[in-house]
Amino acid sequence: MDKSFNYIISPEISEFRRFSPKLKIGVLASGKGTNFQELINLSEKGLLDIDIKVLITNKDDAGCIRRAENVAIPHKIIRGKDFSKKELFELEIINTLFHYDVELVVMAGWMKIVTPFFINKFKNKIINIHPSLLPAYKGGSAIKDSILNGSKITGCSVHFVDEEVDSGSLIMQAALSILKDDNIETLTKKIQILEHIILPHSISHAGFFIRSNFMESY
Ligand code: GAR
Repeated sequence: MDKSFNYIISPEISEFRRFSPKLKIGVLASGKGTNFQELINLSEKGLLDIDIKVLITNKDDAGCIRRAENVAIPHKIIRGKDFSKKELFELEIINTLFHYDVELVVMAGWMKIVTPFFINKFKNKIINIHPSLLPAYKGGSAIKDSILNGSKITGCSVHFVDEEVDSGSLIMQAALSILKDDNIETLTKKIQILEHIILPHSISHAGFFIRSNFMESY
């Protein structure tokens, strides 16, 4: 599928900010990792000044693991079921991110709800991508819900993570029409094309604000 469908992105796409030294990011992902791959690609091409320090996943068979291995990015599998309490699970994630001295945490398909304990360790330094125009369709079945609800427009959002699920200040959104013959598969493909545009640009925005300690703007 190409980008032949109509879409709108706001704020408008501009040049990526330059980071020197590169912005140190940690990626949390539970799935295929196509968003993660886009970050790898842009970084390798020298277009986005990020240093992907570590990939953390909670799934043994997540596709993102192979993508990390292919380019020798350290990865760690941290499974919720191996811990007696959610706080201990999150502590392991937090310690790993601290170990790699991560400046920005990027949730790229992370399918676990994070608690205030985690969020407060990285206050205003966690961003998340979600496949809807937030605040519409929060939760784990956003694309399906938008179709079932008969929405005519949907999209994807990147936001800073706060203590509510799929909440927090929006950084960037992309919107597209839901056509009559769209189904979960076609809509997912289109939304992911847009995600691969807005996630890197949102990292650029968030990195700029983190580096300039200018969070009041959000
Ligand atoms: C993305 O579409 C992302 O928006 C979604 O998971 C997918 C991961 O795809 N995240 C959520 O639903 C979070 N609530 P990927 O593994 O191919 O990057």
